[in-house]
Amino acid sequence: MCGIVGILGKNPVALDVVEALRRLEYRGYDSAGVATLEDGQLTRRRAEGKLRNLEQKLSREPLNGLIGIGHTRWATHGRPSVPNAHPHATDKLAVVHNGIIENFAEFRAELEAEGYRFESETDTEVVAHLVTREINRGLKPIEAVGAVLPRLRGAFALAFLFSGEEDLLIGARNGPPLAVGIGDGEMYLGSDAFALAPFTNMIAYLEDGDWAILHRNAVEFRDVTGKVVQRPAQMVAAGAALVDKGNHRHFMAKEIHEQPEVVTHTLTTYIDMVSASVRMPFKETLDWSQVERLSMSACGTAYLAGLTARYWFETLARVPCDIDVASEFRYREPPLAPRNGVAMFLSQSGETADTLASLRYAKSQNQTILSVVNVPTSTIARESHIVAPITAGPEIGVASTKAFTCKLVTLASIAIAAGRARGTISVAREQELVRELIMLPGLMTQALKTEVQIERLAHKLSKARDVLYLGRGTSYPLALEGALKLKEISYIHAEGYAAGELKHGPIALIDEDMPVIVVAPHDHLFEKTASNMHEVAARGGRIILITDEKGAAETTIPTEATIIMPTMAPTFSAMVYAIPVQLIAYHTALVMGKDVDQPRNLAKSVTVE
Ligand code: G6P
Repeated sequence: MCGIVGILGKNPVALDVVEALRRLEYRGYDSAGVATLEDGQLTRRRAEGKLRNLEQKLSREPLNGLIGIGHTRWATHGRPSVPNAHPHATDKLAVVHNGIIENFAEFRAELEAEGYRFESETDTEVVAHLVTREINRGLKPIEAVGAVLPRLRGAFALAFLFSGEEDLLIGARNGPPLAVGIGDGEMYLGSDAFALAPFTNMIAYLEDGDWAILHRNAVEFRDVTGKVVQRPAQMVAAGAALVDKGNHRHFMAKEIHEQPEVVTHTLTTYIDMVSASVRMPFKETLDWSQVERLSMSACGTAYLAGLTARYWFETLARVPCDIDVASEFRYREPPLAPRNGVAMFLSQSGETADTLASLRYAKSQNQTILSVVNVPTSTIARESHIVAPITAGPEIGVASTKAFTCKLVTLASIAIAAGRARGTISVAREQELVRELIMLPGLMTQALKTEVQIERLAHKLSKARDVLYLGRGTSYPLALEGALKLKEISYIHAEGYAAGELKHGPIALIDEDMPVIVVAPHDHLFEKTASNMHEVAARGGRIILITDEKGAAETTIPTEATIIMPTMAPTFSAMVYAIPVQLIAYHTALVMGKDVDQPRNLAKSVTVE
């Protein structure tokens, strides 16, 4: 995913910008660029490929400005090329961007009609022109950015440099992280503290929705409403570790919060944003039109990602599909498709012993082995015919969060590709589904805003002995995931159930002590789940409902809490509803004083049976 750097220095900054960008290389990129002011004029150098190409350009044509921004680009809209590389610039400003501007196409049409000329295929360039238009209308740079930010939809981080403004950088954050580094008469912006470690260890983090106005001797933070707010700087350990917690108390919190960003990375791996189509990043081909059966197997949260994806493989691609936990699959000796069978193994670590044994069994049964993993060098990856990387980045919290949603994005993309190959979805439907996927980072950013409400709720949940989670459709595996997360880290007993199964057992447990968490987006199954809520309410149960505006409006029974999710198309709601489910577990465990990142008895990678 893209990396952002900005420096207000005392000496020429271009090479320092490149040094900071080098520390963001781990994020992956395919082009890079830097812009500075030379006598107040914007000057850029951009290069395709690795940073050394940019450095060579800079040694041939040096930049001497004392203020600059830089970027490593992981292509989203448009292929890696110099015209698509950041910074994007007009005569008034240069901008670098990480994330996706969802509504760029409408702005682009509007601006082109007004005579603004575009040089790239990127979504970023509209931001450059939108702010330029405000400046052309007479606004000062700070006011112009303030006027444009509320109009941008999606998850993004931005940094701006303005022509003629030798002491001003602006950074903005809605989703992906952005940090301000405070030096001695120098000021810095970076995607993380690690990028800024050579220059300063005093770091202030932008909160979601914030923007920051940087001068060499001062920084001002404003929140989403434009109000000036305080974001205290803190000292981070010298040379901040590559994998650090940022401004979060736990890795789990950081990993929950970075989902809009890492999911963007996964999307860029599987999606061509310009044509709104899926593309597979592996060279091996898999002819889905010939596949007779898909057999999936995994453990823990990875298994629940597979259980969710089964709905997509069945409805979108019409592939007969089964799934089992790996510890059962490996000993069941299941008969697999005699011809053209695909066996899929899902694993964050790629080392889980039962999953690996299941893979080996499937291989012995002549299945094509497709693994969906986070660690591409793992044993499971190495023993597979095809590897689909989920690109979640290192996951440190034992309770899996971002690997779950990145796996879901990967699986959704593969299901769409399978559907196209099998002729079960049209090009138009593919585009529609891909556009829904592209909205996910923005929707997740909105979903994270429920955290304050969930913190309050966690105090009540922490007193429960048992918790029941209910859901239908893809919300059913999510109910299972919610229960798993809660018991893993808070040690409260929790069960997930298909809502329709309520009356076949768990209804006997309902009383005024047991919270029932209902995951129910307003989809075609909502009314059915609403009936189950009535059954709970009639027995005095305590309902915590996770739904959208429409679902909340149609719910007539009283709930203990209703957590409102953004309105979205139903197919991929599980990715967004996963966020409150994870936050509920995290905050409940926190209230109870549990070791969130390293819960008792659990291991991150289970390499024994
Ligand atoms: C352990 C972890 C879980 C994980 C499961 C499967 O139980 O604690 O978070 O979901 O293993 O791990 P894998 O690496 O195969 O996804």
